[in-house]
Amino acid sequence: MKRVLFFTFVFFVASAVFSQTYSDVPDVLTVIHSRKSVRKFTEQQVSREQLETLVKAGMAAPTAVNKQPWAFIAIDDREILDQLAEQLGGNKNLMNACAAIVVCGDLQKAVESLPDYWVQDCSAATQNILLAAEGIGLGAVWMGVYPRDERIKAVSTVLNLPENFIPLNVIAIGYPTGVEKPKDKWKTENLFWNKYEIAK
Ligand SMILES: Cc1cc2nc3c(=O)[nH]c(=O)nc-3n(C[C@H](O)[C@H](O)[C@H](O)COP(=O)(O)O)c2cc1C
Repeated sequence: MKRVLFFTFVFFVASAVFSQTYSDVPDVLTVIHSRKSVRKFTEQQVSREQLETLVKAGMAAPTAVNKQPWAFIAIDDREILDQLAEQLGGNKNLMNACAAIVVCGDLQKAVESLPDYWVQDCSAATQNILLAAEGIGLGAVWMGVYPRDERIKAVSTVLNLPENFIPLNVIAIGYPTGVEKPKDKWKTENLFWNKYEIAK
């Protein structure tokens, strides 16, 4: 009996903690369909706690052979954001944003026989970050770096990245102004059931 009471107590405490943390986050399909690239931000600052929440979501992504071949550079220093913006050709998204996360593949941690999987692993992490940002009321935009050599060099130089870190993207982050809306991309012609068939 004592054991039952104990486990019931643990269950209620755990659900209370869980619901406190995530109670104000919309359900997963609402978040997925509300996500949009946000390039215009207000001046409201994003906290380190929020950035950590986003990186945590990134690290929850699946990876080939569970290698987690990544590193996340969270940036909230205005000077570094401006340097990055300048080196990326005067990137307006970064100039507007008050934070960014750079998702890097770490080739030292990649699957030896299939190192290219790092791109998929880091893309999965990136999408998790974008969805988490939407879920907690932030806006974000994925800006591609890899495989563009000039962007890889620019980002690596500003962030002092070691050779084994390849920046996949820079995600600009901030509070959305609300002007950007999600696009409807549902096209039945892109869905095939069971086998490919030429449309009649
Ligand atoms: C691989 C990749 C690279 C991207 N690069 C950029 C970029 O350099 N600059 C930018 O403003 N948006 C970039 N985007 C965002 C796309 O433009 C955006 O996702 C697309 O227009 C669809 O809009 P949505 O995100 O609002 O659905 C990139 C997205 C992906 C997936």
